[in-house]
Amino acid sequence: MKAALIICVAAGLAAAQVSPNKYTATQSKSVAAARATAPTSHSTSNIQGTAFDRYVVVFCENTDYSKAAGDPNFAWLASKGITLSNYFGVTHPSQPNYVASIGGDNFGMENDNFNQIAFNVSTVIDLLEDKGISWGSYQEDMPYSGFEGFGYSTTGANDYVRKHHPEVIYNANTTPQRLSNMKNLTMFYQELKNKQLPQYLTITPNMTNDGKSSCHDTSVTVAGQFLRSFFEPLLSDTYFMQDTLILVTFDETHSYSTVNRVFGVLLGDAVPSNLAGTEDNNYYNHYSDIATVEANWKLHTLGRWDVGANVFSFIADQTGDTLRSNDAITGSNPTRFQRSSFAGPFSSQKSAPYPAPNTGLARNGRTVLPAIQELWGGYSCNYCDYYTDSVVIPDGDNPPPGYD
Ligand SMILES: *[C@@H]1O[C@H](CO)[C@@H](O)[C@H](O)[C@H]1NC(C)=O
Ligand SMILES: *[C@@H]1O[C@H](CO)[C@@H](O)[C@H](O)[C@H]1NC(C)=O
Ligand SMILES: *[C@@H]1O[C@H](CO)[C@@H](O)[C@H](O)[C@H]1NC(C)=O
Repeated sequence: MKAALIICVAAGLAAAQVSPNKYTATQSKSVAAARATAPTSHSTSNIQGTAFDRYVVVFCENTDYSKAAGDPNFAWLASKGITLSNYFGVTHPSQPNYVASIGGDNFGMENDNFNQIAFNVSTVIDLLEDKGISWGSYQEDMPYSGFEGFGYSTTGANDYVRKHHPEVIYNANTTPQRLSNMKNLTMFYQELKNKQLPQYLTITPNMTNDGKSSCHDTSVTVAGQFLRSFFEPLLSDTYFMQDTLILVTFDETHSYSTVNRVFGVLLGDAVPSNLAGTEDNNYYNHYSDIATVEANWKLHTLGRWDVGANVFSFIADQTGDTLRSNDAITGSNPTRFQRSSFAGPFSSQKSAPYPAPNTGLARNGRTVLPAIQELWGGYSCNYCDYYTDSVVIPDGDNPPPGYD
């Protein structure tokens, strides 16, 4: 009893003393010391979803739709799954797109700086944990589990970068327990071998520019080769693939003047075999990644842009979600582009407060996470109707009232 009590007190103190982004040092001595003691969690769970039991998302970098669609290895991936031909990034540059894909907004971000999102902002991680669904992020060449630094490389070339690791950018995820779920690809392969993978995985390849493998600093050819070599063995791995849905897409287009339409493919055993090689031309964006996971596992929502986002069609068919169109961006003469951000806490153009989640929103029976309602529900703010139940999202050319 006494021992247990001491452990409790120590854990409580440790929690109270957590300072976000403590593990940022990149000198080899600091990295070696942190690596020697950094805890790694291998959390698993078995919560059944309506359309899939495991969700894997991989983002590649800065490529226009036509370039990716024309690459033979992306075409090979497409032949195995469903091509999303109207999937869009939400702004430029990279970091705010990653941030949006798990948090339902990018909070005015228009840069790739060392950003830290306030403790009181939730992500899909809170929604998953609320239902006991295990998760992990897998960052190629991150030096140890829970590393919070801006970047890391042992070769001088760009390698691991924080701006492509959305989980760590949110301070709410920097508790010791959550940091231990942020791992590198070495841990992915170890867990694959030991059948210890979680149910929700984000995977980010490194930024290598050596031409061998990358989704980042090199070309779409190199990205395609990497993805094919990564997924080809996995597609026939029954442990990995069973009831799994994989989304492979890009964070943003390379051209900043065009509509932000990127290539996307849904793969995995969860995709009905008669849909392999087909195209889905419904409107989606990075908020659809969250909405699809919410619909599949009947999660609560964040009360942000996740609520109105379209759920990927074949899953929506099973969950009873309806899809809505956004002709302003998918039409032949687009008037919306989703190519810039507006005011917010991270904007260098115009600062504005964190928008409060709209705690009154509900979609197909999914309500806002009770903890979010408790924290933000009674909060008096000027723009509580910033988030609406709409598939059309604001962008720099069409900002919400008060955020222009
Ligand atoms: C990956 O993370 C583990 C666990 O922290 C660490 O031991 C290992 O050295 C890392 N691998 C690489 C390639 O940095
Ligand atoms: C990135 O990872 C690949 C293996 O996937 C490796 O060949 C390459 O050297 C890594 N890049 C850097 C800069 O370390
Ligand atoms: C959330 O955190 C931000 C930044 O610290 C703060 O400005 C805001 O008042 C907080 N909101 C609530 C509801 O606690």
